[in-house]
Formats: sequence, C-alpha cells, structure tokens
Amino acid sequence: PLNNAKDVGLWSARYIADRINKFEPTAERPFVLGLPTGGTPLATYKRLIELYEAGEVSFKHVVTFNMDEYVGMPADHPESYRNFMYNNFFNHVDIQEENINLLDGNAEDHVAECQRYEDKIKSYGKINLFMGGVGNDGHIAFNEPASSLASRTRIKTLTHETRIANSRFFDGDINQVPKYSLTIGVGTLLDSEEVMILITGHNKAQALEAAVEGSVNHLWTVSALQLHPKSMIVCDEPATQEL
Ligand code: GLP
Repeated sequence: PLNNAKDVGLWSARYIADRINKFEPTAERPFVLGLPTGGTPLATYKRLIELYEAGEVSFKHVVTFNMDEYVGMPADHPESYRNFMYNNFFNHVDIQEENINLLDGNAEDHVAECQRYEDKIKSYGKINLFMGGVGNDGHIAFNEPASSLASRTRIKTLTHETRIANSRFFDGDINQVPKYSLTIGVGTLLDSEEVMILITGHNKAQALEAAVEGSVNHLWTVSALQLHPKSMIVCDEPATQEL
C-alpha cells in the first residue's frame, strides 16, 4: 500500500498518463478511459490536471465513459455526476466535448439510455482502462450488494447505506439523495482491458478485505475483480487494516 490518499492520487494519475502516452492515441485510434466520481478520485483528477498543465499528458484523443449517474437530478445540480466531472476534471484539460460520455439520469426511457451507453462503448471495441472507486459496502459504480456479476448498464436502486454515505454531499440530508441511479454493470466493467480500483481510508478496510481475501461474491461486487485478468487495487495504509 501507499502511505495515504494523496499518494494514491499521485500514483494513479501517473499510471493513467503513462498508459495514455504509451498508447499514442490519435483521432482514429483514441484511448478509451472509464472514470468514476466520489471523494477518492479527487486527488487523481487534481494530479492529472497538473500533469496536463506541465505538458506531460494530453486528453485530446482520449474518449471517456463515466460509471454512473443519479436519476432525476436537475441538470444544474452541483452534485450531479455530470457537473462533478466538468468541475473537477473536464473543464481543466484539453478533452474534446464530443469525446465525453455520460449517462443521462434525466432520460425519459432509462432502458433505451442504458442500451445507448452499452452500444457506444462497443462502438470503440473496448474500454482500455477503467478507473473506479468502491463504496463502504464494496459496491463498484452503483452495483450495490446482490447485483449480478454479469450485469450490464441499467437502473439500480440505491441502498439505504449508500444514501447515508452520499448524504455528505447533500448537506447531510438523506432526503435530498436520489433513490435511483443509472450505472454500468459489473459485466460492463469486467469487459474492460484493464481495471484500476482506488481504495483509501479505514472506512473502506472491510471492502478491501472482501475484494482480495473474500470469495468472488455478489454481495461485495468489488470481489468480481478477482475474475479479471488485468485488474489492480491502488490503496493506502489505513484501508489495509483488515488484511
Ligand atoms: C458512489 C459512486 C461510486 C464510488 C463511491 C465511493 O457510490 N457511485 O462509484 O466509488 O461513491 O465514493 P467515495 O470515493 O466518495 O468514498
């Protein structure tokens, strides 16, 4: 493990930049990057912006797919995952607008929206690198406990625990936290060429234990990483206390 969350941010950003640079993406052959929201990846985004400003990486030929989005948030709500991504990352780098892919939590037809997303991912062949975080209960994206490990992009009801955890972004008021989300499935994630999951802090220690020492288990969807030929967990010392 790395010492702390900041080091996880530095390390993961450098890893992503190196992967993009090694790929030498072009308009015809872009690098396809999967991205998460949450508190954990903030240090990674901050460092990626610094690397971009220092001329060490460009996102000009990078296509992104975000993992998930709340259902029914007003477009201008600061905590929508769309706004999170623009505020914390997209607005600060040279990514092209048409290369940004987000699930529309306000789409009238959720099934069609999820299918559109799956089709769009497939149109690129595969996602080259998917970065993710993990919930306290081991969920990846919004694949809550008991999600099928073969699941695809779909609507998911958030658990009470997740809504409590995420209420910190909504003035601590669970009533303001949406009840549903659109999320890529565990199967969608496993189709990626490479997966990198960031796990920091002692409140994620149980999730890390379940991810690497537990059995492959749909109650801890992060454990599905054990099925992936090229996945890694980047964690800090406090997250390892149950190992
Ligand atoms: C949300 C997101 C997940 C994220 C999790 C943990 O539930 N849907 O993708 O991994 O929060 O977030 P944090 O990094 O803030 O602990």
